[in-house]
Amino acid sequence: MGRAKSKEQNKFYNLSLSERLQVVSERANLTPEEEASLSGVGGLSVQLADHMIENVIGVYGLPLAVAQHFLINGREVLVPMVIEEPSVVAAVSFMAKLARSSGGFFASADEPQMIGQIQVLDVADAPTARCILLENKQRLLAEVAEIDPLLQRLGGGPRDLEVRLIETSPIGQFLVLHLIYDVRDAMGANVINTALERLAPLVESLTGGRVLLRILSNLADRRLARARVTIFRSELAFDQFTSDEVRDNILAAWAFAAADPYRAATHNKGIMNGVDAVVVATGNDWRAVEAGAHAYAARSGRYTTLTTWGKDEHGNLVGAIELPMAVGIVGGATRVHPVARTALKILGARSAQELAGIIAAVGLAQNLAALRALATEGIQRGHMALHARQVALAAGALGAEVSILAQQLVAEKDIRIERATEILTEWREKEK
Ligand code: MEV
Repeated sequence: MGRAKSKEQNKFYNLSLSERLQVVSERANLTPEEEASLSGVGGLSVQLADHMIENVIGVYGLPLAVAQHFLINGREVLVPMVIEEPSVVAAVSFMAKLARSSGGFFASADEPQMIGQIQVLDVADAPTARCILLENKQRLLAEVAEIDPLLQRLGGGPRDLEVRLIETSPIGQFLVLHLIYDVRDAMGANVINTALERLAPLVESLTGGRVLLRILSNLADRRLARARVTIFRSELAFDQFTSDEVRDNILAAWAFAAADPYRAATHNKGIMNGVDAVVVATGNDWRAVEAGAHAYAARSGRYTTLTTWGKDEHGNLVGAIELPMAVGIVGGATRVHPVARTALKILGARSAQELAGIIAAVGLAQNLAALRALATEGIQRGHMALHARQVALAAGALGAEVSILAQQLVAEKDIRIERATEILTEWREKEK
């Protein structure tokens, strides 16, 4: 093994952990404190954790990685991802690389409008009560315009009001009022729940009914994020697979998810591998995003895929994704958790809307990675390659040795630590 660093050795994944941190730190302009927050030293302390939730006895670590090659709306984006599952980060980075020749991902997001729900029971006549609430829309909106002066200054606030009549339910008919509130750069749960509680007495006095639930809806379909990508045909062929074969197999794999909820659940799980990893890294509420995604996937009454795949007039593969994305860059853990703060800086998202679009792009890329693997060689080969890297590392391989040794183990179909040690010993003997 030569000493000078080859191109292969310089690849991000072949760098040592501290070299990788250095690269990211320079690109994202991290301070020493921010760097320390990633090393497990200056991260979430038990003292801070103790202020975040109840009954704290410790903190729980997960790997934080950075996905490479993402070009989103013309900007180079380093994507921090927190996930325990191997292959996810490598696979998504590879897809981001394939997307570069066509200009990468194009992402957008709706205005950050959350929906809050008020359940109104026991009205004398539901259609009449509905009319009364809508007649008083401006008064109701004014009631909650000033709950957060900072948010108001930033341009947030109540936007609209809808009243729905639930015709049939286990308790019969009732009304549901939807408050639409622009929460700007916050996830918005606190703002909207406060607004709903403020609104409830006025709703009761206007309708003569009884307000029961006052809570946001996680089906945040006023706050959709979307992304699209083109993968040139020339990027699709590999090994024995032709580009048309890869594309058409991806389309057939997607069609399976589009038509069958059993497959759609797994397909969407793969999307959420990417989505959640960024949502967690940035300190956002991944249960909220999960709930919104799956409810949105079932909006037609039949659970289906969150992505679509097709081909353009040149035969290139084109894909798109759309899903609710209630994430923020201020408030909650996004600012309290030191690692989330640093992750947000690495990502460089300047607004919640930009963050939402980036997350959608990552979800789309992750879906492509899974479909491409499943529709060609299967996912086990990639998993085995990563497993082989871990075995190589455990056997003591260093730097570039790791991937070369891993490749040899895979080629020999003998991914054991004993074999890895044998090969390493042979190499070291030769070097003497
Ligand atoms: C595994 O975490 C995710 C996949 O199952 C997704 C999919 O099947 O599309 C590979």
